[in-house]
Amino acid sequence: MKVAIIGGTGYVGLITGLGLALHGHDIICMDTDTRKIAALNNRELPIYEDGLAELLKEATDRNKVFFTNCLQTAVNKSEIIMIAVGTPESTNGETDLSHLIQALKLVANLMDSYRTIVIKSTVPVGTCDLARTIIKDNLKNRFIPFDIVSNPEFLREGNAVRDFLNPDRIVIGVDNPESAVIMKELYQTFKVPIVLTDTRSAEMVKYACNAYLATRISFINEIAEISEKVNADIHAILESMKLDKRIGGLYLNPGPGFGGPCLTKDLKSLISFASKAKAELPLFKAVLERNEVQINNIIKFVISELKDIRGQKITVLGLSFKAGTNDTRNSPALHLLEKLIDPKIRIHVYDPVVKSIEEPLNSRVSFSKSIEEAVRNTDCLIVMTEWPEFKELDLETVYHLMRNPLIVDTRNIFPYNKALSLGFRYKGIGIGIGIACADNSNGTLKNII
Ligand SMILES: NC(=O)c1ccc[n+]([C@@H]2O[C@H](COP(=O)([O-])OP(=O)(O)OC[C@H]3O[C@@H](n4cnc5c(N)ncnc54)[C@H](O)[C@@H]3O)[C@@H](O)[C@H]2O)c1
Repeated sequence: MKVAIIGGTGYVGLITGLGLALHGHDIICMDTDTRKIAALNNRELPIYEDGLAELLKEATDRNKVFFTNCLQTAVNKSEIIMIAVGTPESTNGETDLSHLIQALKLVANLMDSYRTIVIKSTVPVGTCDLARTIIKDNLKNRFIPFDIVSNPEFLREGNAVRDFLNPDRIVIGVDNPESAVIMKELYQTFKVPIVLTDTRSAEMVKYACNAYLATRISFINEIAEISEKVNADIHAILESMKLDKRIGGLYLNPGPGFGGPCLTKDLKSLISFASKAKAELPLFKAVLERNEVQINNIIKFVISELKDIRGQKITVLGLSFKAGTNDTRNSPALHLLEKLIDPKIRIHVYDPVVKSIEEPLNSRVSFSKSIEEAVRNTDCLIVMTEWPEFKELDLETVYHLMRNPLIVDTRNIFPYNKALSLGFRYKGIGIGIGIACADNSNGTLKNII
């Protein structure tokens, strides 16, 4: 099928476009960002995601994808128009729909025959109804037929290519059964369950999933805090919980709190549109509050350990909000830097793919070219992202490079008994400093059995 992706160079738009191209569709990725379009036309990626370079090569070699900033071409040459533009948080927590509204108006104005218009962006419940009105009001000829479909995206950055190509399910919300036939044809080569529903329920599914995932993270961070205070072993607790089939293992690792472009903004948006529908959501408000506490606890710990911070060097490993992506939007690492930066201390950062960050933070930290350079003579090493190369670090070498052997491991990636035996002051999440517990590289329970 011929599909245009509006917002086609973004994380979701690009991966959707290339993924659908791999499934044999003819894709036009349209975006207003001419820099990213030019890069893609040179076969260069404007973003980093594991596996994306291979996907781009495959789709371009097969001549299945075309990149343009011309909306007219995108609308003329497609049967399906997917909208994947950003829907960021506005200052009051509501979703800013301005990019979506703008795109819909322009698309409507260029349509001359039937199109299926698919909203892939995450949007508050009822936005498909709004989209229908916008299209109607902006058509050149009011008799041109169209359908609005909700098709939320569930990919996880860092694993986005695999998630798009092998989703757990595809959710399609339609208000006209004929558009369901078109959408099923689009996804017929994906051998996964398709959940067919109305547009409002499809829009709501996305918020339900993200609210649940955020709740799990805040939940386990709270369990980690209690465990630390009562000297219980967080790794034994986690291992045991993850083996419980009712609970499962994903999104259950204590850490610096959830970040990234989606969970926080979607939770705020949910709270905001629920409030307009006269539903107060105390649980989700608490999930957000708990998340704020997490970074503050880490900062308090670092400051209390370093005592006199003057002249100290602090090293932060990892800037992206999770491993496998270069996305630093709402990254816990950046929140940490915002709160930690002080003229009295020197902050050195290293990330395998992120080589600059937003200003003013960028000019207030030093980017190291290697982990070794970042760690040399440092007084405190803070791990913020679970990149594999950090997990593989030789702690003995790190110990000899550091001036003051203090590690704050917010992802619990290091074998802490080893860290303790080497002489580090080691602090994980849910692990009190200097407390010996089961090594996370082996499983406590497995050893006992
Ligand atoms: N990033 C994720 O992990 C993820 C996962 C699921 C859903 N989502 C949702 O998908 C949507 C897109 O997110 P993203 O992370 O890909 O955002 P993004 O910022 O990476 O990409 C958005 C793209 O839209 C383009 N754009 C904006 N206005 C445009 C217009 N009028 N015409 C054409 N292009 C336009 C921008 O230039 C940008 O390239 C959001 O609603 C987000 O909540 C994101």
